[in-house]
Amino acid sequence: MPALVLLGAQWGDEGKGKATDLLGGSVDYVVRYQGGNNAGHTVVVGDQKYALHLLPSGILSPGCTPVIGNGVVVDPSVLLSELSGLNERGVDTSKLLISGNAHIITPYNVTVDKVTERFLGKRKIGTTGRGIGPTYADKINRVGIRVQDLYDESILTQKVEAALDVKNQMLTKLFNRRAIGVEQVVEELLGYADKLAPYVSDTVLVLNQALEQDKVVLFEGGQGTLLDIDHGTYPFVTSSNPTAGGACTGAGVGPTKISRVIGILKAYTTRVGAGPFPTELFDEDGEALRRIGGERGVTTGRDRRCGWFDAVIARYATRVNGLTDFFLTKLDVLTGWEQIPVCVAYEIDGKRVEELPYSQSDFHHAKPVYEMLPGWSEDISKAKSFSDLPKNAQAYVKALEEMSGAPISAIGVGPGRTETIEINSFL
Ligand code: IMP
Repeated sequence: MPALVLLGAQWGDEGKGKATDLLGGSVDYVVRYQGGNNAGHTVVVGDQKYALHLLPSGILSPGCTPVIGNGVVVDPSVLLSELSGLNERGVDTSKLLISGNAHIITPYNVTVDKVTERFLGKRKIGTTGRGIGPTYADKINRVGIRVQDLYDESILTQKVEAALDVKNQMLTKLFNRRAIGVEQVVEELLGYADKLAPYVSDTVLVLNQALEQDKVVLFEGGQGTLLDIDHGTYPFVTSSNPTAGGACTGAGVGPTKISRVIGILKAYTTRVGAGPFPTELFDEDGEALRRIGGERGVTTGRDRRCGWFDAVIARYATRVNGLTDFFLTKLDVLTGWEQIPVCVAYEIDGKRVEELPYSQSDFHHAKPVYEMLPGWSEDISKAKSFSDLPKNAQAYVKALEEMSGAPISAIGVGPGRTETIEINSFL
């Protein structure tokens, strides 16, 4: 029963799409377990480039069943347009399964996300504005709308009424916006019911049966460890659990079933949105990483903040996820630097600290302590095995592995599907 979890070890955008796609051929099910269309995967297949936001990247591998688990929040209009975009390019999406227990991102939750951010002013989180936080808030407040509610008009109407009761007070009295009508929302949501019906299923049962039959199931996290609502840089986080435990709750699979937890780790660090980022660069090195790495959000089109590799964060990701392996991505982006700084510890108020501080104030004060590693100038994109890498690139990878606390089992040396060095097989 190989059940693998693949998740971002930093602040997201580590290149998970490529890793999932690499495994896609041998994987029977690819499951998203949290987040929504705030995620963004770019997957390159042949000369085709696909940008996926909500769908699991396994949708591009024939033979693989993509699953949207109960822990995901689904914007039906985005889902349907992502599906039709793929169909127009000849991708068969008919195998998709969507949990009836997944929550729906309603139009009013997108509105609430945007007005709340505006209201927060300079204290804003820098959300993707896709309604993710308010939808999870409704779920926890027990006024959420689930996919299964689309199939009972009376229940749906009662639930939308309950949700809008308070929200309309807030929108009109606090934010000075117009109230949202229950009927209009219900009508829009009912309009999605038939189109989604072929995909809706009891995904918990399907996945557990698949594991009993020894199928390979891959759980694909959106965002990253440091954006986790519990283990990330709260409050500058997303509203779900991308960390490994989230795979269990967000898909309905017990922790004893998980066999491998793979952290995707970029060879440097990026972040979108607000919040602390100790190794962030504001100079031409940061600009160069952004340019060479193509560091612009797939979902939002925002430039990503860029900085050097942070081993303190990588160690933390190993710990909170119980990582068994790393997939190191974008090593090629570092080609050409004479020396590459790597953050090995922090200095906080004059003291050297080896581990991520739990205190938000301490983390805000953390200054990186760098060790300089020698760089390389050779093109590494054609490297097929670890020994093909220049000696200094090998030493960089080995140093990162030692500092991060788990073996690096694959290395991305270019954006294409084949531009990966596999060291240990994930299966
Ligand atoms: P939300 O998920 O839209 O609520 O945004 C919360 C924070 O998570 C913001 O800083 C976003 O920029 C960040 N975020 C959300 N999704 C992603 C992602 O897929 N990659 C990187 N950052 C993300």
